Amino acid sequence: MRKVLILGGTGDAVKLATKLESIPKIEVISSLAGRTKKPSALVGQVRIGGFGGAEGLANYLRENAIDFLIDATHPCAGQITINGAIASQIAQIPHLMLVRPQWEKISGDHWIEVESVEAAAQVIPASVHRVFITSGRQQLEPFLQRSQIYPDTWYLMRSIDPPDIELPNSQVLLDRGPFSLEQERALLREYQIEAIVSKNSGGKATYAKIIAARELGIPIVMVQRPEMPEGEKVTSIEEAILWLSSQLAK
Ligand SMILES: NC(=O)c1ccc[n+]([C@@H]2O[C@H](COP(=O)([O-])OP(=O)(O)OC[C@H]3O[C@@H](n4cnc5c(N)ncnc54)[C@H](OP(=O)(O)O)[C@@H]3O)[C@@H](O)[C@H]2O)c1
Repeated sequence: MRKVLILGGTGDAVKLATKLESIPKIEVISSLAGRTKKPSALVGQVRIGGFGGAEGLANYLRENAIDFLIDATHPCAGQITINGAIASQIAQIPHLMLVRPQWEKISGDHWIEVESVEAAAQVIPASVHRVFITSGRQQLEPFLQRSQIYPDTWYLMRSIDPPDIELPNSQVLLDRGPFSLEQERALLREYQIEAIVSKNSGGKATYAKIIAARELGIPIVMVQRPEMPEGEKVTSIEEAILWLSSQLAK
């Protein structure tokens, strides 16, 4: 048996685990940070919680005799990706990053591109009074600060689990993608959204809001991805499987 550890927390990681489980003589362990109360069902073994930095992850790899590490975390989860790169070097095992391509701005898109959620909250124009936050429930502090400066702004926040921070003058929508274009169009109209905050997640599951915003002429404050460490990268699940097959053949 050869052991593969998948760093997860994304739909791609779930799909990858399912596909790898059907490969003979492969044992799949998926790792989750533990942020979502009811994570999507995963095939194979699952472990939950942080490792204790890159060193902790390297220890886990060694102690559990992991042969391959595949990082299928969200492209904006910068720390765990750095940890994965360092830990695989320490443990001297092959390491792959599965990174879905980012969304590219096309004609009709009105994006304000920023480096962080903090910057996103700061650049929302003062004239905007109804904001749709899709950048995650864990980073609401910057909007709390903005609401002290602009108390008239109303926020719609969409996330899988309820946020810890309650924004004044806001509504929370608990929902898990994928979201259809019809759904997103209807939502933007119903709540009279004037600006959206999004991370550049890439992929199809949450792209409909980008199309709907383009159609309705709504600006998007787009948070860029953090820089990725050097190392082997692929952009699709199929390529990740090919990578593993070539590693197994060595
Ligand atoms: N950031 C986003 O926008 C976003 C969106 C959707 C899903 N997610 C998922 O949510 C998780 C947390 O995201 P984040 O932005 O907080 O990550 P992060 O800032 O890169 O990671 C912070 C810490 O959380 C732990 N961690 C993260 N992912 C882990 C995993 N798959 N297994 C075990 N421990 C993990 C690690 O703790 P230790 O150092 O103690 O090991 C890591 O140092 C990720 O797994 C990611 O795939 C993130």
